[in-house]
Amino acid sequence: MKILAIETSCDETAAAVVENGRHVLSNIIYSQRIHSKFGGIVPELASRAHLEKINIVVEYALKKARTSISRIDAVAFTSSPGLIGSLLVGQITAEAIAYIFNKRLIGVNHLEGHIFSPLIEHKKLKPPFLSLTVSGGHTDLVIVKDFGLYEILGRTRDDAAGEAFDKVAKLLNLKYPGGPSVEKFARKGNPEAIKFSRPYMFETWDFSFSGIKTAVLYYLQKRFKQFPLSHKTTIPVRLTCDICASFQDAVTDTLVEKTFRAAKEYGIKKISVGGGVASNGLLKKKFYARGLRENISVYVPSPAYCTDNAAMMGCAAYYRLKYGMPSDNNNAVSSDSTLVSWMDKK
Ligand code: KG4
Ligand code: ZN
Repeated sequence: MKILAIETSCDETAAAVVENGRHVLSNIIYSQRIHSKFGGIVPELASRAHLEKINIVVEYALKKARTSISRIDAVAFTSSPGLIGSLLVGQITAEAIAYIFNKRLIGVNHLEGHIFSPLIEHKKLKPPFLSLTVSGGHTDLVIVKDFGLYEILGRTRDDAAGEAFDKVAKLLNLKYPGGPSVEKFARKGNPEAIKFSRPYMFETWDFSFSGIKTAVLYYLQKRFKQFPLSHKTTIPVRLTCDICASFQDAVTDTLVEKTFRAAKEYGIKKISVGGGVASNGLLKKKFYARGLRENISVYVPSPAYCTDNAAMMGCAAYYRLKYGMPSDNNNAVSSDSTLVSWMDKK
């Protein structure tokens, strides 16, 4: 089964052709550059940029896959959660293609895309497994009992992990998106230079990263008489590197510790990690090392499948279609980030 998948939930305009869920024939991503000068995503600009690029991205995805719409079995799109204006562009494009060429239309939850993204490269991976999604909008710890059968253990109570990276990068005046910038500077820093406390919150599986972001702010306010700094002053590079390394160390420690504790508590021997933050080298290293120590298999996708992409949506769509399940949200778009199970409990 060949699926043309379209993903426009945030600031990447993406289209992919995926065969039988895991074989990616093409995966085209256009990352909108316009937002970097604003230091964050501007929703109106995002939807306009999607509109400008969506047709060419879809055409290119078909061309790269050496196929045509007539040989596609279904058209999938991200229906929720995301920026409404951005989601709408993907929805109307998918709807138009499905209507004109008489194809099945299937809306898919973006979080399911991240959850199933490790399946693309790890061909033997199947539920049950424990999934951690760490992105700009989410920090979700979910037991994937089966395809479409989820138990949400914990989510973020405030800032998502990626959001914390972005906000700390902004405090340090680093380039947007913050995650890759923080990781770059952290490579030259000392992770033990500043001891930021780890927000473990062991009484719950929920996460909270706004405290550590505020701790970085307080540290800077203490260090400099006036913060934010005046135009003439800059943060020394050495200090920027140490703050990035110390912050990154604390966030990754927290994510790893809580995920492995949950795996142990629920007796799960497979952990998958997805979402933009999963492309962080240190996080990956810590997950793999701990997995080896505790005899738990760890699955993390390549960076191209961590950050937003349409291939993961094609993968998630395939399993909905395979089990004859309805579209997410009845093919309407929504910013609601609820993850609803669609498979009956056995
Ligand atoms: O999954 P994603 O592309 O979009 C959402 O669904 O949100 O994730 C984007 C987030 C951003 O917050 C970005 O700063 C973060 O992932 N990110 C990283 C890295 N690459 C992207 N965070 C830490 N280290 C990275 N290397
Ligand atoms: Zn995402």
